[in-house]
Amino acid sequence: EYMPDLEIDNKFKQIFSTLPTKKDAWSMDYYQYEGFWYPFFHIPGTLWAQEHYKPQPNQVILSSFPKCGTTWLKALAFAIMTRSYESEPTNLLLTRLSHDCVPFIEFQISSSQPKLSLDVPLASTHIPYTSLPKSVINSGCKIVYICRDPKDTFVSTYHFYYKLNSKAELPTNEIIEEDVLECFCQGLTPCGPFWDNLLGYWRASLESPERILFIKYEDLKNETVYWVKKLAQFIGYPFSLEEEDKGMVQKIIDLCSFEKMSNLEVNKNGAMTLELGIKKDEVNTIELKNNIYFRKGNIGDWKNHLTPAMATRIDQITEQKLASYGLTW
Ligand code: A3P
Repeated sequence: EYMPDLEIDNKFKQIFSTLPTKKDAWSMDYYQYEGFWYPFFHIPGTLWAQEHYKPQPNQVILSSFPKCGTTWLKALAFAIMTRSYESEPTNLLLTRLSHDCVPFIEFQISSSQPKLSLDVPLASTHIPYTSLPKSVINSGCKIVYICRDPKDTFVSTYHFYYKLNSKAELPTNEIIEEDVLECFCQGLTPCGPFWDNLLGYWRASLESPERILFIKYEDLKNETVYWVKKLAQFIGYPFSLEEEDKGMVQKIIDLCSFEKMSNLEVNKNGAMTLELGIKKDEVNTIELKNNIYFRKGNIGDWKNHLTPAMATRIDQITEQKLASYGLTW
């Protein structure tokens, strides 16, 4: 996984001034790299991954647009892959945030926990399909992409930054400002535009269904048993009949459920440090409280934060950009 280093930092400095830039509704600077918008700190890690990332044999990459269920997918895949380990290491998820079990390839995130000594071939990324490292594409490794109703994704993204900036929860029923929605619609959101990010993976999954599994958050929530079994099968760790009889599928689902995960001490009060590249010759870091990854975990919470007109605006873009590819919400 990415470690801030000077070589990449220099490369970043070279291309930085050539990137188109815009400000979002909070005056945060976004940079367009290979057709997608990022806050500056996403880019050095993406450059690093494109140059240096080497998948292990049997590597599975968990990809997502931020706020579409990355934390949940990581927990499920990790629990599936480690379920037969002798010392019940799925218990690791009881004391570690799933981001501390499955690293991002383009970010360095660390906690106070010792580094994981297990060799689990799982990594994750928010990098759009067309910018993935060539090594990932050429190795043919399996990719699981999770996506979500853009309206809920938008609300969840808004909450994430609201909480990061104000340290407070998004008040129930507070309608989000129009100019923030405008930025989301224009694609000014990490790894946005949302719809283009989704389409990259969706089209690739239609071309190579054996290599890319596309999961909707809503399907995972509504038909959890079916999708968890499918996920296990796809990543090469299918459940045996004996395991099914013993209730192993349900055990994993319960362990990774929002209720269980969000109430764990580590996820309520723990924190992680995110290293954001090099600034003035020092590694720039921010601390993220683990509870920022757990808010409500519901389908349709957008109804509390968007007016019907705002929802229609998002739905129209979804219809226009995705319907012809057979994707709807
Ligand atoms: P909400 O903000 O709608 O509650 P990501 O993990 O990609 O950052 O996405 C975060 C979203 O997933 C948040 O959505 C969060 O509450 C939800 N989430 C986190 N853990 C979950 C779980 N175990 N089951 C279902 N949803 C979960």
